Amino acid sequence: MGKTLVLSLTIGMLAFAFACSKGGTTALNVEDFDYPLVSSNAAAGAPVYETFCEGCHPNGMEGDGPEIVDAKLTQAQMRWRVRNGGDDMPAFDESKISKTELDDLLAFTARFQAVTLNK
Ligand code: HEC
Repeated sequence: MGKTLVLSLTIGMLAFAFACSKGGTTALNVEDFDYPLVSSNAAAGAPVYETFCEGCHPNGMEGDGPEIVDAKLTQAQMRWRVRNGGDDMPAFDESKISKTELDDLLAFTARFQAVTLNK
């Protein structure tokens, strides 16, 4: 086999493995986000909110996105929303918001009851 063929096969397999590890086209389920908090540093969550959310949910109020103050989502629902996005809301994967930052973000948004932390 030529080097080019081996190389393209390798790249193909890696791309396939990557697609599978990302869940491929499988939809994200809220239940998959139901796990204990890995962090709850609201102060660290504030700049995450400022960077990724404030533009559409200014101070938790309505902007290009709906008001989220008092939404009282479960932590699984909030994590799902951030990872999944929605109509006109982008999805944020771990390359943008790490697992730790996501929970810090939850702790921050719990200050205005967008989410109710349960564990
Ligand atoms: C580009 C604008 C935009 C950005 C940025 C954005 N959102 Fe949204 N958000 C929306 C829109 C639009 C919806 C409504 C989506 C739908 O109904 O499918 C929404 C919905 C939500 C909801 C659901 C509210 C409910 O009552 O169920 C939550 C919670 C939320 N966003 C939180 C966040 C957080 C946290 C961030 C930052 C990580 C963020 N959003 C970033 C536009 C945005």
